[in-house]
Amino acid sequence: MRTLIFMSKLGKRSTAEEALQGQSLKGKTAIVTGASSGLGIETTRVLALAGANVTLAVRNVEAGEKVKAQLAAALPAGSGQLDVKALDLSDLSSVRTFAAASGDGPLDLLINNAGIMAPPLGVTAQGWESQLGTNHLGHFLLTLLLEKRLKQSPAARVVTLSSDLHRRGKGASVLTTLETDRGFTQRKYAGFAQYGDSKLANVLFVKGLAKRLPANVKAFSVHPGVIPTNLSRSMFGAAVFRAVGRLFMKSVEQGAATTVYAASAPELEGQSGAYLSDCHVETPLHEALDETLVERAWALSQKAVEPYLRS
Ligand SMILES: NC(=O)c1ccc[n+]([C@@H]2O[C@H](COP(=O)([O-])OP(=O)(O)OC[C@H]3O[C@@H](n4cnc5c(N)ncnc54)[C@H](OP(=O)(O)O)[C@@H]3O)[C@@H](O)[C@H]2O)c1
Repeated sequence: MRTLIFMSKLGKRSTAEEALQGQSLKGKTAIVTGASSGLGIETTRVLALAGANVTLAVRNVEAGEKVKAQLAAALPAGSGQLDVKALDLSDLSSVRTFAAASGDGPLDLLINNAGIMAPPLGVTAQGWESQLGTNHLGHFLLTLLLEKRLKQSPAARVVTLSSDLHRRGKGASVLTTLETDRGFTQRKYAGFAQYGDSKLANVLFVKGLAKRLPANVKAFSVHPGVIPTNLSRSMFGAAVFRAVGRLFMKSVEQGAATTVYAASAPELEGQSGAYLSDCHVETPLHEALDETLVERAWALSQKAVEPYLRS
């Protein structure tokens, strides 16, 4: 049974602009992964509207530049600057190159937003099952490489997009992928089960991260709701799903609200490590609170990215 353990005035139908609660992010620096589509575009737009200078970290630079031009044309004077940089989370070398090219000043907001859902079995450049590799390991390495810059900020936040489908994940399966069967050669692959694993890994990561960060850097995981974006591209009948979904699912503006809330809400100061949904703190899957699992997943993830952490 899920319990709401923290209440804000915002809710399921709040938009990302409303989730800002009138705050200014003037002069803050932000990175949004997967800013070329869906929730990443709206998150970028609203952070820039509040004054943040945002780097769109995208695997398709041409698409990123197009989004940047559209957003820049629509944002009012006084909004933050936008820039586009290449980042392929399914290749740890690309993550390293991006982090090195991303600058060296303080970083205030890291939004680990990019993701893929339930594609046919595939592996990343380093041989990891593509969802765990992209959604979790790519962001795990990115965050560790940017940690020094986050610590330089007076008040930084790391927001990682998980999903309510993390409840379908299995801790034991996450550990097996990380430890012994990275490419799913010894087990049956099921797209949504492994999506659940990758999103459980996101929640475990945030729990482990929050324990390790100094007081000036907070970490949150987020379920954005169900929004008809390109995420469903691998699903059977995706176009119909999206068309029907537009009638009753969250809009993209509403879908980006919990991310923006996690990135900016003052009332979350004492809640680092929390899992958020509909602009509230919510209890994740019981397993995600298991300290032994959090630490085991952390150690194995660190081992997986270790060669890319060394200078
Ligand atoms: N939409 C929902 O209902 C829902 C529900 C729960 C959780 N979420 C989570 O919310 C986040 C955003 O999803 P969305 O709905 O906005 O989906 P989306 O429209 O498909 O956007 C996903 C973004 O991630 C990028 N991406 C995918 N693989 C990448 C890689 N290897 N390297 C760098 N970027 C990569 C995509 O780039 P391309 O455009 O180049 O493909 C795209 O920009 C995801 O983490 C997702 O799991 C969404």
